[in-house]
Amino acid sequence: MPNEDASTPPVDCALRALYSWNYEPEIDELRTLYANALDRQWIAVRDLDWECDIDPAHAVANLEDPQQFPIGQLHVWQELPDEKKQSIALKLNAFMLSQFLHGEQGALMVAAQLVNAVPHMDGKFYASTQTLDEARHVEAFSRYVGKLDRIYDIDPTLKDLLDITLATEDWTKKAVGMQIVLEGLALASFRNMRRTTREPLLAELLRLVSHDEARHTGYGIKYLSRVLPDLPEDEVRELEDFAFEATRRMIDQRTGGFGRKMLEIFASEGVDVARGMTEILQRRDEIKGALVAARKEQGFDADPLRGFIMPTLSKLRLLNERTEPRYRELIDQNMISGFEGTSFDGSFSLPDDLETWVDETSTGN
Ligand SMILES: [Fe+2]
Ligand SMILES: [Fe+2]
Repeated sequence: MPNEDASTPPVDCALRALYSWNYEPEIDELRTLYANALDRQWIAVRDLDWECDIDPAHAVANLEDPQQFPIGQLHVWQELPDEKKQSIALKLNAFMLSQFLHGEQGALMVAAQLVNAVPHMDGKFYASTQTLDEARHVEAFSRYVGKLDRIYDIDPTLKDLLDITLATEDWTKKAVGMQIVLEGLALASFRNMRRTTREPLLAELLRLVSHDEARHTGYGIKYLSRVLPDLPEDEVRELEDFAFEATRRMIDQRTGGFGRKMLEIFASEGVDVARGMTEILQRRDEIKGALVAARKEQGFDADPLRGFIMPTLSKLRLLNERTEPRYRELIDQNMISGFEGTSFDGSFSLPDDLETWVDETSTGN
């Protein structure tokens, strides 16, 4: 268990609780999502086989695939004995899944806030089901990560993103930070992980969780689409800026946070990190080229940012002419490929039924 709970300062949250005296269905799409959520509950202790052993060799991504494991191209990695490779990869996987676990805790708390903060009864009903879903996700992921290795501490950038989403008084910002950015990342990542994992317990856990996440992101998209046209211009601008800040933190956690932890784990396993860094600098273009080729083969849309988060922000017009230059700069700084020639004019086609979309787990769909 992480041991920093006592030393983690609490987050002061500004929350305005709104009553709604209209008990009749008002936003049909949200009422339908609520009904679906009630119908599709599952129980982590009952519906997953926790007694099964996890084979460490199957619990991690395919280490030969540059898309799944870019570092596998380095000589310093290739020279390691197989047991060492497995041990490092397992720790990296446990670290990554720990971040999803901590994100689930953030989602649990934000969903509970939304019960109070959203103005429509349909929105409150739905947020109550999401709260229960997230409790189940925390339960299931903590159990899985504990079985795999141990729970790693939260990355500071992810913590920062959760903090700003919890702390804001504005429910539309909470929905952008959580349902669009963080849950968009989770939804697309879980979908990709279902394509690549060879570990049956994780595959089943991801199948169950990703269906719930499809409803959660659907809630954010449908609810925001409904209310944004009526928001005053200054509030929309603030929301656009918040969306960019949330995306920036999400990218930093995925690249910087994971990179920092990777170096730490490598060093703890006795790998010559300085030699690895030198090799990365010397072979930078070659490694980037292989990564881009692998991404192209998989389809750029498999990337959560390219395939889900930015199209959704664009569709909601939170990514627009005013904010696009900042996103372009962010993409360049982080050497993220797949955006060349892409326009953010809101013309992306998003899947209508996200619960069906998450089941399209074969490459190329
Ligand atoms: Fe979740
Ligand atoms: Fe969620």
